[in-house]
Amino acid sequence: MTRTKMIIDADTGIDDALAILYGLKSPKIELEGITTVFGNIPVEQATDNTLRILKLAGRENEIPVSQGASGPLVRTLDGFATHVHGGNGIGDVEIPTSSQRRIEEPAADFIVRKAEELKGELVIVAMGRLTNIAHALQKDPGLTAKVKRLYVMGGAINVPGNVTPVSEANIWGDPEAADLVIQSGMPITLVGLDVTMKTMLSQSHLDSLRRLSKPENEAVVDFIYRSMQYYFDFYREANAYRECAPMHDPLTVLVAVEPGVVRTQTMHLSVECGGEHCVGMTVADLRRKPSVGSPVQVCVDVDAQQAIDMLLEVFL
Ligand code: BDR
Ligand code: CA
Repeated sequence: MTRTKMIIDADTGIDDALAILYGLKSPKIELEGITTVFGNIPVEQATDNTLRILKLAGRENEIPVSQGASGPLVRTLDGFATHVHGGNGIGDVEIPTSSQRRIEEPAADFIVRKAEELKGELVIVAMGRLTNIAHALQKDPGLTAKVKRLYVMGGAINVPGNVTPVSEANIWGDPEAADLVIQSGMPITLVGLDVTMKTMLSQSHLDSLRRLSKPENEAVVDFIYRSMQYYFDFYREANAYRECAPMHDPLTVLVAVEPGVVRTQTMHLSVECGGEHCVGMTVADLRRKPSVGSPVQVCVDVDAQQAIDMLLEVFL
């Protein structure tokens, strides 16, 4: 089996953590590095969480972690999402610190270098604001032709937003970066709220995961179990969900290696960067002859049951 060479770009919160753990465990993924970005939490905290998660998974000092942007491309930072992910970003669960240090090379340079080295084989999964990818494109506009595909967790096409009536958090948090990336011509698959809000992990999934997981995955599964309680609490408060939460970032990593779990449609997409109510909206030109935005592969439907089964399978 040829493994997908992947960089994960994360604002390491609760669902990012599960996505990274899936990436580490999947036999289909070769993790070339993890880059971090502000978003759910400050970037330094995202880096620290990432290093701790690598240690928890028994992969300390094996995978480079590179720190990226601490704020948006042009606008001023508008806070973090600690109400969603906890004060430390991972549901206030304490896990051991790592002896690994982040590499000195900043995220954008790391992305540019790996894309060059991997000669068209690099897949990037962006699970936070698109600031690091935008910086990388500014450094090397030729990156568009060097990256095999960019999978973006972000956007809301035919469903409501989750930060504003129309905007999803990762796009809303740096709309200029998102628009720059979307208009760049890089091959992009958008994994937005249209599919992630259907992909629900529930308490019963966690209970069976605890019962059935391999002994070597005990620490990781315990962390997933405990951090998800915080996420479930947020979604109960915010959306009146009962003991379940959508798997935004894990689904995005999954789609990169199991594209059959989603149905996609090519749409011309742009990001609204102005206005009072629509900042961060992903605007699809669905007219017969679209003229606004760039063509992007948008996930429009998901086999949620299959997706959750595949995500959990790597821990069993
Ligand atoms: C996205 O926002 C963050 O809170 C999550 O980690 C996910 O990447 C969902 O809108
Ligand atoms: Ca995220």
